[in-house]
Amino acid sequence: MKHKYSSISSVEIIADPMPCMTQLIQDKIEQFESRDCEDAFCVCDVGDVVNKFKAWKELLPRVEPFYACKCNTDEVVVKTLADLGAGFDCASKGEISQILKHGVPTERIIYANPCKQKSFIKYAAKHNVDMMTFDNEAELVKVKELYPTAKMVLRILPVSDVKVQCNLGVKFGCHPNNVAKLLKKAKELDVDVMGVSFHCGSGVQEARAFSLAVSQAHDAWQIAVKLGFNMTMLDIGGGFPGQKSAPISFTEIVSILNDALDTYFPAEMGIRIIAEPGRYFVASAYTLAVNIIAKRTVARDISDADGCNQQGVTKNDEPSHMYYVNDGVYGSFNCIMYDHAHAEAHVFSDSPLRFTSSVWGPTCDGLDCIIQECRLPEMEVGQWMYFPDMGAYTIAAGSTFNGMPRPTIHYICSQEIWDEIYPDHCTAKRRCESMSSDADFPSIMATGPDVRSLREAASSISCIEDEIVFA
Ligand SMILES: Cc1ncc(COP(=O)(O)O)c(C=O)c1O
Repeated sequence: MKHKYSSISSVEIIADPMPCMTQLIQDKIEQFESRDCEDAFCVCDVGDVVNKFKAWKELLPRVEPFYACKCNTDEVVVKTLADLGAGFDCASKGEISQILKHGVPTERIIYANPCKQKSFIKYAAKHNVDMMTFDNEAELVKVKELYPTAKMVLRILPVSDVKVQCNLGVKFGCHPNNVAKLLKKAKELDVDVMGVSFHCGSGVQEARAFSLAVSQAHDAWQIAVKLGFNMTMLDIGGGFPGQKSAPISFTEIVSILNDALDTYFPAEMGIRIIAEPGRYFVASAYTLAVNIIAKRTVARDISDADGCNQQGVTKNDEPSHMYYVNDGVYGSFNCIMYDHAHAEAHVFSDSPLRFTSSVWGPTCDGLDCIIQECRLPEMEVGQWMYFPDMGAYTIAAGSTFNGMPRPTIHYICSQEIWDEIYPDHCTAKRRCESMSSDADFPSIMATGPDVRSLREAASSISCIEDEIVFA
């Protein structure tokens, strides 16, 4: 039987050398314009995700990455990471079920939400997803009742003054002063505690956050050992940077982190060390292109400038342009609200002139402002802007408020990387593989036997013009 579906979001295999992302976006825009299409779209470079995985394995060899899929639940990203052998950090029944559908063994899944809904715990129990975090007594009581054989990981609150993009300590983590009391409660309830975890905060800006947290995890670990728990796992959470412009690089973090791990949890201990990176894997893989759907030019009414532009017009005399684009803070740019992100607009223009500009989303809400003030060449309605580093905490929480569509996603991968991960794929056509959102998901993958690896699926695909046929 053949299952057909149209190739809305195929992975496009690009022959090496792969053009730069700016060129790829420009090519895609040309295709769009030739079809009279002006919708916002993302380009996702699957190869970028693969390269991140390879860098992780090389630089942090003792730590198994469990991708925090809350960051971006895109099926292509999840499938790619699953096929590469990554583990997954899930926070809900929905996320667990998505990961199980990809055939990921339960030893590679941690239910890393310290405050879980009862029915979700039952779901985890039914599917043997037994590693889960806790940071409070009530959670222990629930787990004892609903999943008494669960393997619990104590999430501690790393206490430090380190700067982070998003502080998670306000919501989660057992303070070091309360660790002994909570562990004694676990003992009393006969709950199996087998690990310690922490999360330094999302978007860590100083590497020492990790060394401090590792030493505090060691303190908690010692208390647990003294109480008689068989401790076998350390979970160092997320917080790793995902884009080149981050205040601190992954390399800087790992040099300090590896030292701390070797000091407090040396290899001879024979324990399992995992991490829950989210933005690290996906931030830089996505570039979002938006169309300027409207423009207003307003007189400047503030006197904050001193220079002249090349036409001798002082900045105070310049007009200021308001650009309205077709994705905004209710869509992919929700990261501005939820993730304290700063968007950086790029345009295609040779003009050296720059004007005070602001960039707004498409909805009718005044809050829907992407950039309050920046300097851009003058742009016209119908032209495009693009935003790099749009993969983390963007499309995952985007809504369709005001009926505004979410951007479509176009997947690309360099031939070299694709061949490396899927050596058996069909090479006859450039456009040869696809997995997208649930609705477009090929029925052969959505129903049982519920998992086929991407590699198997790809080898059973034959490509014809604009559609893909699963044999
Ligand atoms: C429990 C947990 N693990 C991992 C992550 C991923 O963090 P990051 O994207 O900073 O790596 C988060 C993010 O909020 C989280 O809450």
